[in-house]
Amino acid sequence: MGREKTVFVCQNCGYRTGRWLGRCPSCGGWNTLVEEAAVPQPKLKKRGVLNFLAQGSGPVPITEASEVEYSRFPSGIGVLDAALGGGLVKGQVSLIAGEPGIGKSTLLLQLSKGLAEGGKKVLYVSGEESAGQIYLRAKRLGALDERIVVLPETVLEKIEEAADEVKPDVLILDSVQTVFSADLESSAGSVSQVREVTYRITELAKRGGITAFVVGHVNKEGQIAGPKVLEHIVDTVLQFEGERGSFYRVLKVVKNRFGPSGEIAVFKMTSEGLREVPEPSAFFVSERNAGRSGTVVFPHTEGTKPVLLEVQALVLPAVYSTPQRRSEGFDPNRLSLILAVLEKEAGIFLRDKDVFVNVVGGVEVDEPGIDAAVALAVASSAKNKPVPPEVAVFGELGLTGELRNVYFAEARVKEAKRFGFNRVLVPKTVAEELKEEGVEGYGHVKELLEAVL
Ligand code: TYD
Ligand code: MG
Repeated sequence: MGREKTVFVCQNCGYRTGRWLGRCPSCGGWNTLVEEAAVPQPKLKKRGVLNFLAQGSGPVPITEASEVEYSRFPSGIGVLDAALGGGLVKGQVSLIAGEPGIGKSTLLLQLSKGLAEGGKKVLYVSGEESAGQIYLRAKRLGALDERIVVLPETVLEKIEEAADEVKPDVLILDSVQTVFSADLESSAGSVSQVREVTYRITELAKRGGITAFVVGHVNKEGQIAGPKVLEHIVDTVLQFEGERGSFYRVLKVVKNRFGPSGEIAVFKMTSEGLREVPEPSAFFVSERNAGRSGTVVFPHTEGTKPVLLEVQALVLPAVYSTPQRRSEGFDPNRLSLILAVLEKEAGIFLRDKDVFVNVVGGVEVDEPGIDAAVALAVASSAKNKPVPPEVAVFGELGLTGELRNVYFAEARVKEAKRFGFNRVLVPKTVAEELKEEGVEGYGHVKELLEAVL
């Protein structure tokens, strides 16, 4: 009558321990350890990362290795194909991560429609909705096509059987958190289950040449349950983002074994589902109130194709003794650092001010090129002086106030000019390299601010 053996598993990184701890010693996450039944997991231990690219006939001189050519096929969603480097690949497994309600199921149903129209057979597995519910949504989206087979199911073994029977070209699993394997005793959504389900779907995909999409819900901190364990299993990670209350939806390719990463695809959520936005720059700056202080345009890229974003800042006297620093779409720690540099290097004191920064459109910017734009927007709001409407700006800000070069500078300048931003403020080194009309180089943040405010 001994107590059942249990183990505590970190839902973030998969760390296992015999007793409960408030903080995971492996990844540092708080309250991430959850009690699970301690079943031996020999299968998991034996498995490596599945990757049909990494198979071959042993070591060869690199000069004799042949070029890989992926046979790609269109998804039916043009902006997605472009972001992925030219379409989907047979056997490719993609994780679509996003907060609940962002539009993942909608996107995948539309994707199913596009694929079916292109002659592909789709198996759409939902652990969240009944066939009837999926039917209603598909009807609304015009996605009723007999090449789409729906399966409401949560047991992984049954999904595997169905895939063997249906032999789809594309398998969609919505969502990884609702599906569980009967082999494991832990509950659906736990890190062991989520990992097992993803492994087995990947196996299925590689074995049958099936292109698979797996939905993963993320929590408010932007983490998929067991993000580290999932991201390295799949070939492609697509992050679906958007601002609350906004119609814009941004799908960012954060990992891609078959093409570039960092590219984005932009959509607008309408009553007829997601509509592609082929010219996101025009879209993001269209509602800008250019004559006001605290707004500036920034050509952003984490891939190869830049997109113009509006960075807004609002600076006002602090309400509480501890001033507030808030940012949307931009790392708040980075904001604190920029404010410190503005104080020390440009004489802009913000200690008794609340500072709010927002990247309009719901794009999460994760590259340093935005620093100069944030600094300029904050300074503009603090001084209540608008930035001239024809100005766009980018550059990394160093701790001594110096402006540093960032990648894809030339493409950023080009995108800014394409939309009529004829004064592009850049780090001095970039201007010296480009020697282009309308490109102004600044070595220090103070010079940059003085030139436009
Ligand atoms: P959904 O795809 O269910 O989100 P997720 O799968 O990521 O949880 O989308 C949810 C939201 O999208 C919901 O609030 C309703 C809205 N929506 C539209 O605005 N138009 C549509 O055509 C559809 C299908 C959904
Ligand atoms: Mg959904």
